[in-house]
Amino acid sequence: MIARLAVLLIVGLAWTATPPGTQARELPKLALPCAKCHGVDGISPHTTVPNLAGQKWRYLAQQLKNFRTAAKGDFGKSGLGGRRHPKMETMAEPMGDAEIEAFAIHYSILSCGAGTSVVLPMPRVATRCTVCHGHKGISPLGRVPNLAGQKQSYLVKQLAFFRDAGRGLGYGDEEARYHSMMDSQGQTLNDMNLYALARYYASLPCR
Ligand code: HEC
Ligand code: HEC
Repeated sequence: MIARLAVLLIVGLAWTATPPGTQARELPKLALPCAKCHGVDGISPHTTVPNLAGQKWRYLAQQLKNFRTAAKGDFGKSGLGGRRHPKMETMAEPMGDAEIEAFAIHYSILSCGAGTSVVLPMPRVATRCTVCHGHKGISPLGRVPNLAGQKQSYLVKQLAFFRDAGRGLGYGDEEARYHSMMDSQGQTLNDMNLYALARYYASLPCR
């Protein structure tokens, strides 16, 4: 029963449709306020701010919706996952669904950059992650993020959020995150594994 549920969930995550419209091309002007933190091309100049370029658009859209939900005071109350961050809640709160999808598509079609020069060997614990995040951190599922080439400190922070959530912690904090699939993954990671995973995925070429 549990195995069947997991399969259904994974099939659900894989569902991708053609991105709606091509209005993404007109986005650069709207995305100006985002550039300060996420970079003009979606490659962030800050270590704890994620790159958005080349990320799965359905995933990005879901994150903006999660921030918007949290801004309405609904964090932790509904859905598979939720996410809090004061700045991103302010950014997402006034957005409509169409705007959210346009932002998500805009960033997903940008090139993620050149990749890294030194790829680290895969830590053993990463074998648990490949079913959803792919063998080299490029996810085969539309609603699961690519991890390859993402900022290391950002990845550490996200894994720590999920680990806290899996232990029932962090729900009252102004920065927090949970997801029914990731909380159980995070819960069992010790600090050494957590840092090794973040270092490894950050070192992989993003495409
Ligand atoms: C003041 C800095 C700042 C600005 C401005 C900003 N962001 Fe963010 N954004 C962040 C930070 C920091 C995070 C990571 C939050 C966390 O640690 O959970 C983030 C996360 C995100 C995510 C989730 C990405 C992922 O990989 O999970 C999306 C999508 C996003 N921002 C889109 C936008 C868009 C679109 C705009 C402009 C409308 C914008 N952001 C403006 C700082 C900013
Ligand atoms: C059953 C599928 C599944 C497995 C297995 C899994 N993940 Fe995830 N992961 C997800 C989903 C779904 C999300 C998006 C969560 C959300 O929407 O907030 C995610 C999000 C993440 C994020 C946040 C990325 C970002 O850009 O913000 C990190 C980091 C992460 N996973 C690392 C891992 C690591 C490391 C492992 C192995 C120890 C792992 N995951 C195993 C499904 C999975």
